Amino acid sequence: MKQKAIINLLLVSSMFLMFSGKTQAGDVAAAKEKNSMCAGCHEIDGYRASYPTVYNVPKIGGQHAEYIAKALEAYKSGGRSHPTMTAIALTLSEQDIKDFAAYYAGK
Ligand code: HEC
Repeated sequence: MKQKAIINLLLVSSMFLMFSGKTQAGDVAAAKEKNSMCAGCHEIDGYRASYPTVYNVPKIGGQHAEYIAKALEAYKSGGRSHPTMTAIALTLSEQDIKDFAAYYAGK
């Protein structure tokens, strides 16, 4: 258990180093801290949410960072609409979006 935590920490910090070289890049470590609000849906393979109707949650890990960021911005601006994702995207800052994009792209 403890070993796993250390390995996770190393993984996160190496990912952080990879992304921190770019200016304005998403901060993977910051996303990890905020990820509890996404993990319940997006980190469970084949997860189906049941509100408002039963729907499949798309897998976003491994998508391109630009794609993820664009999708989140579209939910936020109304270009895309989905009750849950719109509500969530509205709470995200520009930096949050970059952080999540970097985090999920690196998975
Ligand atoms: C309650 C479940 C739930 C939570 C929590 C949630 N999502 Fe989603 N997410 C979904 C569903 C369902 C969709 C598909 C919506 C649609 O059809 O447009 C989606 C779509 C997306 C997409 C677009 C995927 C694609 O392939 O186009 C991104 C990116 C995304 N979510 C990121 C996030 C991030 C980042 C968080 C946390 C801040 C989050 N989601 C939290 C259920 C959730």
